[in-house]
Amino acid sequence: MTRVLGIETSCDETAAAVVEDGRAVHSSVVSSQVDLHARFGGVVPEIASRAHVELVGDVVAEALLEAGVELSELDAVAACHGPGLAGALLVGVSAAKAISLATGLPYVGVNHLEAHLYAAWLEDPSLEPPLAVLLVSGGHTMVVIMADHGQYRVAAETVDDAAGEAYDKVARFLGLGYPGGPAIDRLAVDGDRTAIRFPRAMPGAPAFSFAGLKTAVVNHVRREPDAPVADVAASFQEAVVDQLVDKLVAAADAAGAPTLVLGGGVAANSRLRERVAEVAAATGRRAFLPPPALCTDNGAMIAAAGWWQLRAHGPTALDDGTDPNLRLAPAAGLPVGGPD
Ligand code: KG4
Ligand code: ZN
Repeated sequence: MTRVLGIETSCDETAAAVVEDGRAVHSSVVSSQVDLHARFGGVVPEIASRAHVELVGDVVAEALLEAGVELSELDAVAACHGPGLAGALLVGVSAAKAISLATGLPYVGVNHLEAHLYAAWLEDPSLEPPLAVLLVSGGHTMVVIMADHGQYRVAAETVDDAAGEAYDKVARFLGLGYPGGPAIDRLAVDGDRTAIRFPRAMPGAPAFSFAGLKTAVVNHVRREPDAPVADVAASFQEAVVDQLVDKLVAAADAAGAPTLVLGGGVAANSRLRERVAEVAAATGRRAFLPPPALCTDNGAMIAAAGWWQLRAHGPTALDDGTDPNLRLAPAAGLPVGGPD
């Protein structure tokens, strides 16, 4: 039995969790800074870093308390070391290293994207590769073919905005506030998703694009200012989801992957979840949709990925730094096999 403390501070969530054997969540505490950033319409990096410094100690203490464990009862401490905001990453990594130095626990530096992949195992430990994972967040949009643990291939990636970024920008334009994804998701329920035919970019190509869609929404609203906002939101969402689902299925087809998995903040979207479940049923595949709390940034996914990484690669050196531009590369992943 191995208990890992996971710390996540790559963006605007200060989060910590205790997870056993990469699968059983004993506690997961997420302190969102949404209120601090909302009036600026997006995350302000310097404000995020300062808030992480203020919150990280309490969030870690609460995660330990909820799990009913002392630091001395843990086996490792993991922190997200990239990709993310430079100053924000430093806070979580420094906290984890300080705990490591003070207690002698091994430190594990975790790739944020890899952690989003491993969130799936928290819900269903029986999940087996190969998987086609749609990773959609505020900073990334990609389909990852996971042939086995540590064997990743990015089958499609966005050429401009991330899907979450498109949601946030369109919501801001429509005056719906920040973060935009949940706001559009809620509003779209009352809208007609067939009201406006917005473009589906790059048909047939193994790539995503959302910049043109955002411009199309802006142009439409300027041309027809009286169009019901719920219809605009629902039609925009349908265009995003169409593109995401089409590329996910095409990549899964090409790779022969029988399981579809969602990860990242946009995976909390109700229409995306509904459509992925539908397409899985229609194509004889299994769909794995982690609950929204595990899709958005959290410490449990860091602890889970940290556990798999620790088993395969051992601890990370304490002089290893952070990398705001860290990519999801096979070299950064885990070797074939994983735990038995
Ligand atoms: O993974 P995440 O929590 O942070 C990043 O690593 O970026 O993703 C945050 C993104 C934001 O752009 C937010 O608007 C979007 O996920 N999001 C959603 C929903 N919930 C969060 N987008 C669409 N529908 C949602 N329900
Ligand atoms: Zn994320």
